[in-house]
Amino acid sequence: MAPALPQRAACAAMLLIMLLGPGTAAGAYKPRIRKELRSLTDEEYRSLIIGLSTMLTISTEAGRRLFGPKYIGCGERRAAPRVQSNGHNGPPFMTFHRSFLLEMEQSLLSVGPGLKALPYWDITLDNPGTGKYFGTPKTIFSEKYAGQNDGDPIVGSGVTTGVFAWRQVNRFIPAQWPQYLKVYNGSTAGFTRGPTNTNANPLVTRFPTQNLVKALKQAADQPGGNTSLPFAKLPKVAFDMDYVVNQNGQVLLRYPVANYQRCLDPKTYKTWMEWNFCLDITILATAPKTVDKGKYLWPQVGTTALLHAAPHWTTGGVGLKNNSIGDMFDVSTSPNEPLLFPLHHANLDRSAMMWQAAATKQDPSMPFKYWHYPASKAEYPTANDGVLLNDVLCSNAPFKTIFSSPPANPKGYTHWEVLYYTRPGASPYIYDSML
Ligand SMILES: *[C@@H]1O[C@H](CO)[C@@H](O)[C@H](O)[C@H]1NC(C)=O
Ligand SMILES: *[C@@H]1O[C@H](CO)[C@@H](O)[C@H](O)[C@H]1NC(C)=O
Ligand SMILES: *[C@@H]1O[C@H](CO)[C@@H](O)[C@H](O)[C@H]1NC(C)=O
Repeated sequence: MAPALPQRAACAAMLLIMLLGPGTAAGAYKPRIRKELRSLTDEEYRSLIIGLSTMLTISTEAGRRLFGPKYIGCGERRAAPRVQSNGHNGPPFMTFHRSFLLEMEQSLLSVGPGLKALPYWDITLDNPGTGKYFGTPKTIFSEKYAGQNDGDPIVGSGVTTGVFAWRQVNRFIPAQWPQYLKVYNGSTAGFTRGPTNTNANPLVTRFPTQNLVKALKQAADQPGGNTSLPFAKLPKVAFDMDYVVNQNGQVLLRYPVANYQRCLDPKTYKTWMEWNFCLDITILATAPKTVDKGKYLWPQVGTTALLHAAPHWTTGGVGLKNNSIGDMFDVSTSPNEPLLFPLHHANLDRSAMMWQAAATKQDPSMPFKYWHYPASKAEYPTANDGVLLNDVLCSNAPFKTIFSSPPANPKGYTHWEVLYYTRPGASPYIYDSML
């Protein structure tokens, strides 16, 4: 199934470099260790919040004068997924988010060196009933961390608790992002939200989870089972989400450890795309016709393929007005949730890294095959432009400084370079659960 591709010649040369190259000598390898949010020391957590707050307010240019060349203001990347369709719906989902997080991590470390690495949010620790932090002050939905799961009804579901309480979403000011205007002009209400998102609340918004349950039920009742929610038309099977309703009528996502672990098995999920299908329903929904979608939804329908989407949906939620969605739900601009967005995606990256490590243990040649990341349209017919192995990642807003070695192409790192520089034994960071 692997036709001889011209690009593979370059990969063969890389193989040699990987075997002989610098930076992998035994003993010299000291990656940063990413820990779970609740395992941070007080000083680390303080540095994280100072770093995020700084990035939310100080521009890239001003920040670089203060903190050095790795600093990046949050506004800079806010519109990036919109700028290039190559961060979602296919092979690049994790290479994009991995790069996004690395850029953010380096910026955070340059502002607050008390932080050792970006943390992640293990959603199974907040699982109703069984999660170690469920119902305790250490739940992520607490004053110390992200605040309430449902926003405050008095202010249109704005977030009024937690460390980023009362935070406002930026207005979209065209003069501030001239490089993006060709593809993005802010939301219809004038905010840095998705172009079709009608949410006009200036506060970071988390709509009531009850609305979401209603919307999902309505979607499931439609003929064909598809939904007309603003995010996608998806098969009915996607909406059997596993949740419980508490005494306040709030919907709590159920996400047990077994679901998280399922995608990590390289015997069941043998390639990069198979891992992606296990993780994310929208990638599965846009997969080529030849993919057996049922394989990824069974036996816990939805809950595993929803590892990416469900926390976006349950924390962002949907408004009652058409096309009004909460910030975490908005694919263009969910980084408006400064804590939930990066920490949730670090948890997905953790899954990817653990799967890659397990797949490499089973077949040591995996890094040289880039875990079968698709290299041609023949391999993955539904791929968008710019998402194949040898393409520059996010080419309208490329990543150029996320690794210590410069990109082979001055236009920015390619997908294979991101996979190459984050391979087991060479990645600048790993997760504590891999030790
Ligand atoms: C955004 O606005 C600018 C100027 O007002 C226009 O040239 C551009 O085409 C618009 N972009 C989109 C994606 O609508
Ligand atoms: C529902 O979505 C599926 C998959 O996207 C599509 O094949 C089907 O035609 C849709 N059905 C309806 C009734 O829109
Ligand atoms: C939402 O859109 C539908 C279909 O276009 C329309 O029938 C309905 O009245 C709209 N609802 C609201 C609250 O605007």
